[in-house]
Amino acid sequence: MSDIAKLQIGDNSYEFPLVKGTENEVAINIKTLRSATNGVITIDPGYKNTGSCESAITFLDGEKGILRYRGYTIEELAEKADFLEVAYALIFGDLPTKEQLEKFHNDIKSKSVVDDDVKKIVDAFPKTAHPMGVISSLTSALTAFNPSSVNVDSEEDMYNSVVKIMGKFPVLVAWTLRKKQGLPLNYGSKSLGYVENILKMMFEQPNEDYVINPIIKNALDKLLILHADHEQNCSTSTVRIVGSSHAGLFASLSAGISALWGPLHGGANQAVLEMLEAIKEDGGDTKKYMAKAKDKNDPFRLMGFGHRVYKNFDPRATIIKKAADDVLNELGVEDPILDIARGLEQEALNDPYFVDRKLYPNVDFYSGIIYRAMGIPVEMFTVMFALGRLPGWISQWKEMRLKKEPIGRPRQIYTGENERPFIEIEKR
Ligand code: CMC
Repeated sequence: MSDIAKLQIGDNSYEFPLVKGTENEVAINIKTLRSATNGVITIDPGYKNTGSCESAITFLDGEKGILRYRGYTIEELAEKADFLEVAYALIFGDLPTKEQLEKFHNDIKSKSVVDDDVKKIVDAFPKTAHPMGVISSLTSALTAFNPSSVNVDSEEDMYNSVVKIMGKFPVLVAWTLRKKQGLPLNYGSKSLGYVENILKMMFEQPNEDYVINPIIKNALDKLLILHADHEQNCSTSTVRIVGSSHAGLFASLSAGISALWGPLHGGANQAVLEMLEAIKEDGGDTKKYMAKAKDKNDPFRLMGFGHRVYKNFDPRATIIKKAADDVLNELGVEDPILDIARGLEQEALNDPYFVDRKLYPNVDFYSGIIYRAMGIPVEMFTVMFALGRLPGWISQWKEMRLKKEPIGRPRQIYTGENERPFIEIEKR
């Protein structure tokens, strides 16, 4: 293949260089398009064909169902790594040595205390508030308690901001849950592992010691790893674009959390469980809901199905489906909605509507079933997704700032009124 793309507009032709990634993905570099063509731009709603950056963090091939963080396959990471190791690899580029991991964890622990005044903010939220709104606000509030913006030219400053948010965010997640449940706001224990401590902070009752169940700990590790990054999705692109204005790290993350909340993105895990519950309540008639999903006059979509990039299968869904079976078996939980989920999947995989559109279960289809078996309330599911995605967002923000990417500012094609005179209000 030549390394030039040719574009013909009217009588004029233009040449643009191709950019090739390490996995041979190809893009046309149109940096000079507008200046060379006297104002022509590209238009691509939803950015379905637009690469926003070159990135060395995550590779995914939607046709083959491949997902790798920093070159490590998601299958191997989910089986062999723990979440903190994966977070380190995403943020710093390689899996850590024992010493590097220990230092990272100690530094995180040393920065995990949140200003006690934040508790007053937590207290001010009604118990009925959606946890995603709460966690997004609390993350934003951290900027008030940590006002200095990150000096990205200083490795130390960058590192400190990373360990600060890795330490404080799980505390805020736990407080969001505890507030909802009327439990005192606590800190876990410095002697525990990162994920064990998250469980203790979330679930410890004031009148008894929290005993860690290894099945739950392993399931959470796996879920967090599977959610840790997914290249330029909606929330990550949000973090990068907000950060590109040189807004602070915490402010950029807070914006990313808001983007994640929507049901077409991370909010799908809550929506899936609510959908499965509704089908159960309605007598378990999966065929009726399949018909609704296919009916173009019905806004209902089969939540947890379809993906912008995966057009074969979502490798995360394969791992999560198996984990759901294992976790429910090991915990001895019988959840009738698992059968409904399996039934829907079987029907969809054999239905031409879904087959033709290449719609398969995505990461969110089975994750809620595991979260529920672990005792996590439905409204917290997307917060758990945010907890997993945190290192991905951090690494993408860090990469964007270190590469000194320009401010994100797309253009548009204007389709409104042409210039017209102002008419006094009495005369309109
Ligand atoms: N149920 C029924 N039809 C669907 C679904 C679905 N879940 N997803 C896509 N379609 C149809 C859609 O109506 C369209 O049909 P047609 O070509 O006849 O107009 C076709 O499939 C292509 O869909 P699209 O909306 O153009 O695809 P997209 O890439 O813009 O959207 C998606 C991807 C994930 C937003 C979409 O598949 C969806 O809404 N899925 C349900 C929500 C969900 O599970 N989201 C989680 C995604 S994975 C985790 C994450 O991103 O955080």
